Amino acid sequence: MSTYQAHFRIWRGDPGGGELTDYTVEVHDGEVVLDIVHRLQATQAPDLAVRWNCKAGKCGSCSAEINGRPRLMCMTRMSVFARDEVVTVTPMRAFPVVRDLVTDVSFNYVKAREIPAFVPPAGLGPGEYRMRQEDVDRSQEFRKCIECFLCQDTCHVVRDHEENKEAFAGPRFLMRVAELDMHPLDAAEEAGLDRRRTAQEEHGLGYCNITKCCTEVCPESIRITDNALIPLKERVVDRKYDPLVWLGKTIRRR
Ligand code: SF4
Ligand code: F3S
Ligand code: FES
Repeated sequence: MSTYQAHFRIWRGDPGGGELTDYTVEVHDGEVVLDIVHRLQATQAPDLAVRWNCKAGKCGSCSAEINGRPRLMCMTRMSVFARDEVVTVTPMRAFPVVRDLVTDVSFNYVKAREIPAFVPPAGLGPGEYRMRQEDVDRSQEFRKCIECFLCQDTCHVVRDHEENKEAFAGPRFLMRVAELDMHPLDAAEEAGLDRRRTAQEEHGLGYCNITKCCTEVCPESIRITDNALIPLKERVVDRKYDPLVWLGKTIRRR
């Protein structure tokens, strides 16, 4: 087994301010960035705050920015960096810092609560739901989400614009709206809920200019932009310019 000394630079601080602190730390073959952060806690910085849980890329807790890129610390192998490269670890920039590498991600839970849940179809009991395989596959792709919020962190709409947070749900939650709007058994419309209108008017779909940065950082490789956001935008446009919908609205207005 080979070992070497890596140069880490880690942001230390709290809501009042902070700075990058340099560390030289041992690295062993096969280790990931989270291993190194744990070694630092064990040897040099026992008060270094970091959130983690599974160390298997499944809990979504260990999100941070490594050399400026939003990543899971437990899924970032040290072997992707040159041995003499400085590895800089900073907290997710889009969310308020609690301490060191830990951020307050409650913005995301607020947004999650704003999305109305699946509306069960009338007259079908448990076990009676039937869907085409392609509809199942679409939902399953979206359900791979581990809620790491790296997509939320990287999207420029909120990353540098705190003022947009009120109006924009972010890619993870617009994906949820898309999933429900494309779900063949969701009975929202029958219940008087227009998911396409709310996507646009309440969840800020129009702020997304499909830069695809969210898709690029997703550790589950969910094609957020191509499979959720763009189809949702198309469905909003279809609804807006559908002549039958226009006629219906015109008649109702009379
Ligand atoms: Fe993380 Fe991907 Fe889910 Fe976004 S969609 S929260 S990047 S797993
Ligand atoms: Fe943001 Fe993704 Fe759209 S990064 S702008 S939500 S394509
Ligand atoms: Fe669970 Fe990294 S510790 S995803």
